Amino acid sequence: MAGALLFSSRLDDPVAWSKALAALMPDLDIRVSPNLGDPAEIETALVWKPPPGEMAALPNLKLIINLGAGVDPLLADPTIPPHIPVARLGDQPMAQMMSQFVTFAVLRHHRDIAMYQRQQRARQWRYELPRPSYECQVGIMGLGLLGGTAARTLAGLGFNVAGWARSPHTIDGVECFHGAPGLAPFLARTDILVVLLPLTKETRHIVGRDALYCLPRGAKLVNCGRGGTVDEAALLAALEDGHIAEATLDVFEQEPLPPDHPFWGMEQVLVLPHTGSIAIPEISARDVVDNIRRVRAGQPLLNVVDRVKGY
Ligand code: GLV
Repeated sequence: MAGALLFSSRLDDPVAWSKALAALMPDLDIRVSPNLGDPAEIETALVWKPPPGEMAALPNLKLIINLGAGVDPLLADPTIPPHIPVARLGDQPMAQMMSQFVTFAVLRHHRDIAMYQRQQRARQWRYELPRPSYECQVGIMGLGLLGGTAARTLAGLGFNVAGWARSPHTIDGVECFHGAPGLAPFLARTDILVVLLPLTKETRHIVGRDALYCLPRGAKLVNCGRGGTVDEAALLAALEDGHIAEATLDVFEQEPLPPDHPFWGMEQVLVLPHTGSIAIPEISARDVVDNIRRVRAGQPLLNVVDRVKGY
């Protein structure tokens, strides 16, 4: 008999996921944590931040699929068995949803919407000439599926887009920088910085004081990847002294953002509760089922994670 799938997430909806998986693989035996049944029957685990030790207690586990794009919480758990392959979700609709979110944030900064909201509160009718998008230099850090899609979308809207990643990339209409030597020139030409990097040992606090002050004065920041890639203390100081004019923050070093955090009260900061993008069960279930078939057939997996690189 084919092995069972364990669903383990306190965030995602088990009913919607079970329905989506069953529609594609009607005979799949789905167990929802903490009701594992016989742990020896579990072949695949579909998880978001599973309880520590849960994966290690499954003797016949063949594959762990992370219910999201970022695997940092999963890889930070030392009890995850090192020999089990880990795959993550990442499909076009998820990238498109993120791209729409980035577009909203960039347009909001580019079109000075926060300033108009302040004017509205003061009942002030004051018009600024809008600048064309080609005069606005957007820089995207992280050129994977999500960052690459956002870069193409913004370039399609006429923004002057550059990207930065650890390794070289080629994207039509986007100037691509890479590696440590490419970072300072990339930042120096960027008016709106969008951070869509995975959180790894290399990227923790990569946007710290040095990086922030490589940006031109008055630059704006959008972080919708992982909070830990930005040094929040350095960002706070740069916002307070006006070097960074505005920020849209969807991710934070500590989530939920603590109630006494200064970001909550800053007019120039838009605080959002990690809402950029999500996997839609009916769509992302296709890749999950595909990977279950692949693991059973001994074929190469989709969206497999390189545990050394951390993404
Ligand atoms: C969300 O944060 C994800 O990693 O997909």
